[in-house]
Amino acid sequence: MKSHGLRSTFQTLCVTGGAVNAQSSHSHNGQHDSTPVTFVLLSYLNIWLILCLLPRTCVSNPSKPNFLLILADDLGIGDLGCYGNDTIRTPYIDGLAKDGVRLTQHIAAAAVCTPSRAAFLTGRYPIRSGMASSTQRQVLFWNGGSGGLPPNETTFARILSQQGYSTALVGKWHMGVNCQTRHDHCHHPLNHGFDYFYGMPFTLVNECQGTDDPELAKSLQDTYWFYTQMFIFAVFTLVIGKLANLFPVKWKIIICLAICGLLHFISWFSSYGFTKYWNCILMRNHDIIEQPMNLQKTTSNMLKEAIIFIERNKHRPFLLFVSLLHVHTPLITTEKFQGRSRHGLYGDNVEEMDWMVGRLLDVIDKEDLKNTTFIYFASDHGGFLEAHRRNSQLGGWNGIYKGGKGMGGWEGGIRVPGIVRWPGALPAGAVIDEPTSLMDIYLTVVQLAGGAVPQDRVMDGHTLLPLLQGTEQHSRHEFLFHYCGVFLHAVRWHHKDSGTIWKAHYATPVFQPEGSGACYRRGICPCFGDGVTHHNPPLLFNLSQDPSEANPLSADTEPLFDTVMRRIRRAVEEHRKTLTPVPQQLSPYNNIWKPWLQPCCGTFPFCWCHEENNKA
Ligand SMILES: *[C@@H]1O[C@H](CO)[C@@H](O)[C@H](O)[C@H]1NC(C)=O
Ligand SMILES: *[C@@H]1O[C@H](CO)[C@@H](O)[C@H](O)[C@H]1NC(C)=O
Ligand SMILES: *[C@@H]1O[C@H](CO)[C@@H](O)[C@H](O)[C@H]1NC(C)=O
Repeated sequence: MKSHGLRSTFQTLCVTGGAVNAQSSHSHNGQHDSTPVTFVLLSYLNIWLILCLLPRTCVSNPSKPNFLLILADDLGIGDLGCYGNDTIRTPYIDGLAKDGVRLTQHIAAAAVCTPSRAAFLTGRYPIRSGMASSTQRQVLFWNGGSGGLPPNETTFARILSQQGYSTALVGKWHMGVNCQTRHDHCHHPLNHGFDYFYGMPFTLVNECQGTDDPELAKSLQDTYWFYTQMFIFAVFTLVIGKLANLFPVKWKIIICLAICGLLHFISWFSSYGFTKYWNCILMRNHDIIEQPMNLQKTTSNMLKEAIIFIERNKHRPFLLFVSLLHVHTPLITTEKFQGRSRHGLYGDNVEEMDWMVGRLLDVIDKEDLKNTTFIYFASDHGGFLEAHRRNSQLGGWNGIYKGGKGMGGWEGGIRVPGIVRWPGALPAGAVIDEPTSLMDIYLTVVQLAGGAVPQDRVMDGHTLLPLLQGTEQHSRHEFLFHYCGVFLHAVRWHHKDSGTIWKAHYATPVFQPEGSGACYRRGICPCFGDGVTHHNPPLLFNLSQDPSEANPLSADTEPLFDTVMRRIRRAVEEHRKTLTPVPQQLSPYNNIWKPWLQPCCGTFPFCWCHEENNKA
């Protein structure tokens, strides 16, 4: 039915579409004589006419919306006015919700950056792409590591690019850079369907600012020091043994060991002083333009890049993914916003982020793209409860929900704000309480762009359109699996007939200090080992009645307890059958610093540069 209508209008669509495309791609490259332009235009038209006779190759359908996807970093669901915060000022995001649809049960697939973003970009649980960790390190630690989003994963950006969209990523990536050599860029955004990239291949960390509170170094220093001592001890013993003829060993082996030890020591050492150089870098496409980054200008530069991209692509369908560095520590906030909020530096940073969203909405309005642009706003996971310096809270607020960043099972780690606006096509001021996932954006975006979802793999999202448009009342998610790394911590069951949402926890983090509601002593909650409590029988909550997960049910208090647990157990078994072993991108080997993979804008190890010196 749909393709009928499409085919009858193909000719007209493609003629206009082709002309627009030809023009805009030329205005990109600057001035041309009018004769060649006309010639090129005509030949483009011909090609388009021919292409358009074949169904599905016509890429410029005016009914395809543009996409502006905005993802905040570490923002809690309780940090926004439209989610009930009455002391923080977020007028632009609140306005977005007023003119669009607000999702109240929008769930991230992981409670930390790397896996949550992998799921967002691929529409699949991160365990399927190997982006879920089985170690203590739940995210990528280095630009110079070898792990990252595998090249054979298909992001929605790649599909949209194939559909004729102009695609860009502005901001944070945190999905890896290289596999085997310094320049292969196998995990780079440009290798994953983005035509343009401006931003950080890594993520903001405290080291970028040089505060007294190094994040990476702290979590690494003990392990590194331990191994360094081991190396020294081993080499020392072997040398003594060799010299005293106590046992036969080859000098070669001793030298190898000494070199390994030295490399290890260097990487330990560099995690102190050099993280800033190794990780805090800014790229434009494949080029490093700032190493280390100049945080003073970052906010205005990101905004400028996003706005220029919209202006440059206003005549063709575009996908712009603005992956904000806000509101991750160290909370880089321009002077104008410092001291403005009632919630210290964190609040200032949230209010600045809201202002940035406002600037993006302005340019959409100004360019008359309001009704043709699908705008999405969300956070990658819950607020970071453990982030604080002395007495001031530097992390977000997750409202009534228990837990936060790093806690893959508790609601506060995974329930995030989610807002969609598309005037004319979606209702204004609607609120949807059904379970939805960040992974749903993939299916929604691909469907709207007229693309095809990959058929050779399991997808875990569902299109949001019927829910958003109000043609369906219930979410298509029956079960959602809540992972912490590769460990299944909890399962949510949306029982269709009764509408009840049940949630069973198999493992929960041990709060330190006890009863504090977070893992303050560890800095972030672990996913396994002695840092978690296993529950058998599982902790069961009725989320519909007890969204704060305060009152666990038991077989005595809940007549349906056994039935619910049986159904959930069966769902887990079925889910497990769909998992296949894949290379572990966050394995210790893939997640250590490898000097030969370190992106470097000078001659390694002398890596520093600034935009001025680096204009192509
Ligand atoms: C609003 O957000 C701030 C900053 O995260 C938080 O401290 C405060 O408790 C929140 N207020 C409400 C009413 O949720
Ligand atoms: C955009 O959509 C709204 C809501 O349907 C409508 O009132 C408005 O006239 C449209 N604006 C344009 C420029 O088409
Ligand atoms: C990507 O390649 C890996 C390793 O060869 C394989 O295990 C995985 O199934 C592939 N993924 C997809 C989506 O094809």
